[in-house]
Amino acid sequence: MIAALDEALRQRIALAADWVAHATRIACMTGAGISAESGIATFRGPDGLWEGRRPEEVATPQAFRADPEMVCRFYHARREKLVKCRPNPAHFALVELERRRPEFTLITQNVDNLHRAAGSRHVIELHGNIWVDRCSKCAHQTRLDALPNEPMQRCTACAGLMRPGVVWFGEMLPEGALEAAGEAVEACEVLLVVGTSSLVQPAASLAWHAKRHGARVIEINPDATPLTHSADLVIAEKAGVALPAIIASFAQV
Ligand code: OAD
Repeated sequence: MIAALDEALRQRIALAADWVAHATRIACMTGAGISAESGIATFRGPDGLWEGRRPEEVATPQAFRADPEMVCRFYHARREKLVKCRPNPAHFALVELERRRPEFTLITQNVDNLHRAAGSRHVIELHGNIWVDRCSKCAHQTRLDALPNEPMQRCTACAGLMRPGVVWFGEMLPEGALEAAGEAVEACEVLLVVGTSSLVQPAASLAWHAKRHGARVIEINPDATPLTHSADLVIAEKAGVALPAIIASFAQV
């Protein structure tokens, strides 16, 4: 695959592969861009709107309090799309990386479950998982194994309204997730930052945290982000091209 890439890109991929090959502690942080090639619209991309609304307007506790049905319909529509989506070569490349480096830590902002579906075993889901429903009253949780029939569900324990187990704007991250991610980026020698706009905190700050603790930061994103200038290596290519190429070339180092 690497032979088909242009020379400058090939060199960057070879350098990334060399850094990865010579590191024992590697971490990767992913965002919506890694799932773009699975057919899932990114949040801030051109198809990121839902019924004319920005996700930031729908994905809040205030929106759920004001109009739970609208918020549940939004997540039902996302789940309807997601059931048809499969992991892409970028997700599978990270499964292979974990196989080769058992200490590898995968941190994702995505709620789409595609890393686990691909076979990644240790995944820190900073923003939760859309296939979990949680009661808005008693915090009872259920893991969904199929698309529910109705957008709005009632809690089987207390009849409260169920809400998706994802982190909304203004909410805390799942207990322990940020701490575990922070420890992983402090300890790693190489951090791959893949398909994220690096705009949403606190997730975005992890890359700078890694740098302060001496890691080499590699950004993989076709577009520039606030991280681009601070990254040690930028691979301006799609994740589904760059990650498999890095892993294939790392396998040869
Ligand atoms: P964004 O939609 O903000 O950014 C997606 C990034 O992926 C952009 O920088 C794109 O350039 C890049 N991208 C697009 N296609 C790509 C590809 N094929 N390969 C690599 N990169 C590609 O998504 P996030 O940064 O993940 O929060 O957004 C962060 C958080 O904001 C999300 O987790 C979500 C959202 O609101 C919650 O749900 C709480």
